[in-house]
Parts: sequence; structure tokens; C-alpha cells
Amino acid sequence: FNWANSETETASKFSISVTPNFILPVERRPNLKQVSKTGIPVIDMGKPESATLVDEIARASEEYGLFRITNHGIPQQLCDSMLSALVDLFHLPPQTKSLLVSDDQTKDVRISNHYRKVEDDKDNQKGKRFSMWSEVFKHPWHPTDDTFALLLPSDPPQYRNIVLQYSKEMGVLMSRLLNLMSQGLGLEGDYLKKVLGDKPLCRAQGNFYPPCSNPELTLGLGVHTDRDALTVIVPTPNVAGLQIIKDDKWVAVDPVPNTLIVNLGDQLQILSNGKYKSVVHRVVTNEFHHRASLAMFYGPDKDALIGPIENLIDQQHPPIYKHYYFREFLEEYRRQEGKNRKIKEAFQ
Ligand code: SIN
Ligand code: FE2
Repeated sequence: FNWANSETETASKFSISVTPNFILPVERRPNLKQVSKTGIPVIDMGKPESATLVDEIARASEEYGLFRITNHGIPQQLCDSMLSALVDLFHLPPQTKSLLVSDDQTKDVRISNHYRKVEDDKDNQKGKRFSMWSEVFKHPWHPTDDTFALLLPSDPPQYRNIVLQYSKEMGVLMSRLLNLMSQGLGLEGDYLKKVLGDKPLCRAQGNFYPPCSNPELTLGLGVHTDRDALTVIVPTPNVAGLQIIKDDKWVAVDPVPNTLIVNLGDQLQILSNGKYKSVVHRVVTNEFHHRASLAMFYGPDKDALIGPIENLIDQQHPPIYKHYYFREFLEEYRRQEGKNRKIKEAFQ
């Protein structure tokens, strides 16, 4: 079954039907009428490093755990080519694409569908799987070591080359963001990057959401927080889908042209002892248009020791989390596969 190839821009012609496995249990449905649109920060990264920029980034990281950036240094044309190479990958002919499809968790490069399981015993449905309205393509990336490209498919032919260029630029941007975020915590600029370690876990996830005739019954991606430290996302311009929780309410992160989305993951919330937020988010489906996005994750070295940073702890701010090796966090993450994950709670 090939999602991307059966997708068209009008729902009436759209041939994928919302079969029961996509229909969410009632309490998991997105309730689209109760979503606001206010206030998600847009930060201009083009201005010189200053206390104001540090302050803006720190405030957005504390209040939202997510913000948009403009003048971020990655050429717009490269962002556009990256996204279109990703969409081409999802549109590969079924025979080629199926070689990438796998449910095997141990495979670093694969296309799969995310799912959740019913967790309570209501109506005797416990354990029943329901699928997200998306396909995801996962692969490693690295800012300086190009060898990851050898693991990538040679089709579409431009994907490898573009993701290599994009990864180099992304490495520079992420270093800069981590530097500003460290300063925002009152630490030396290189502090966070050092804590995350010499061999950071760099993963990429391309998402493709076909149009869906029933956005009220489905989700493109379920409610979650990102498990790594930092995520930078390039989304399809002009199509909404990503939503976050702010002050217990859902807020839409509507697209703004020429911006990238930065979101903070669990490791930054834990390192900052709760000062920075790992944003809770989901993706809703769109009745008329497909949407794609590429999320680049930057996480700790598996052997990095993670926990609340000492300088941030005092009598008024006792540690909320324990220290752990990141590999232990990953093990807990895998144990909670298919569930509404509560991994941070296991390290409190
Ligand atoms: C995600 O990676 O959680 C969603 C990104 C998006 O599609 O905006
Ligand atoms: Fe995410």
C-alpha cells in the first residue's frame, strides 16, 4: 500500500479511506474546535549575538519549549530542496519504496508507521493498536562525518547529497542554539554541548501526512515530547498541522514562510531541572493538502551522564530528576513503545 502515490490534493479524489485502525478512541481525538492560535515566538537569529537574543531564546525555551527562527543561516533554497527530496522519497514507486519499509526497531534506516495501543481496559479494548495518519522515514545524520550517507537509499538520487549539505548547516545552527540556550541558563556557552558529549546521537525523521477526509477522528502523530535534547524542523510551507500544549491548552503552530521550528526535548528539560520545557506536541491531519516535515534530532552520547546541572541546584531549586546514563533513558523509551510515553517520570 503506497500512501504518497495515492495522494491527491483534493479529498474528494483521495483514495485512502479512514479504515477503523486509524480511528482514535474517543478520548484521544483532537477536538479541533478547542485550539487557539496565539503567541508562538518568532526569533530573528540574524542579529548579532547579544544579551537580548540570549534572553529571547531563554524566555521561549522556558515558556513554550518551542519557537520559530528566521535568518537562521541555512539558505532557504537548501531548506526547500531538502523538503522536496523528502517528498520525492515518499513518492518513490512502490517496489523501490517497499525495500525501505520495516518495523524492525534495530534498523537505523527505515520507513514505518507510528502506532499507539489502547492502555485502559475500557470496552475490553486494551492492547488494541491504532495507527497514525502518516509515514515516517528515519535515518542517522551527522554534522561533520559524512559516512552516514552510505546508509541512505540511492533513490531519489539527490537525497544523499542534499541531506549532507543540510546536515553541515544544521550542525552549525544547532551549536549556535545550544550555545545561546547555555547562556540563557547562566552557563558558559559551550556547557550544554559538552554535557551532551563527543558522540551525540543524531537522528533524522521525515514525516509525510497525506490528506485525510476525517481530521476529527485521526492524528498525523500522537501526543508526545521529543526524547532527545534539541529538534529543528523544516515543514511544508502553508499547511498547518503541528500543535503544542501551552498552559494546558492546544495551540496551533501555523506555518510562517522562511522559518524553521525549534523544539526542546526531554534532555534539555532534565538538564535545566525543569527550567526549559520539553514541549508536548501532536500533528493533526488536513482534509485537503498533504504535509511533510523533516525533524533533525540532536541527543546525548549514549554514555553521557545526564541529570540536573549542578549550578542550577540550590535550596529553592532542589533536583527534580535523578542522574542517569542516556542509554538507560533509551532503554526506558523502548520499554514504553506504543504507549503514551512517560519516560521522564521514571527518572524523577
Ligand atoms: C514531530 O516531529 O513531532 C512533528 C513535526 C511536524 O510534522 O511538524
Ligand atoms: Fe516530535
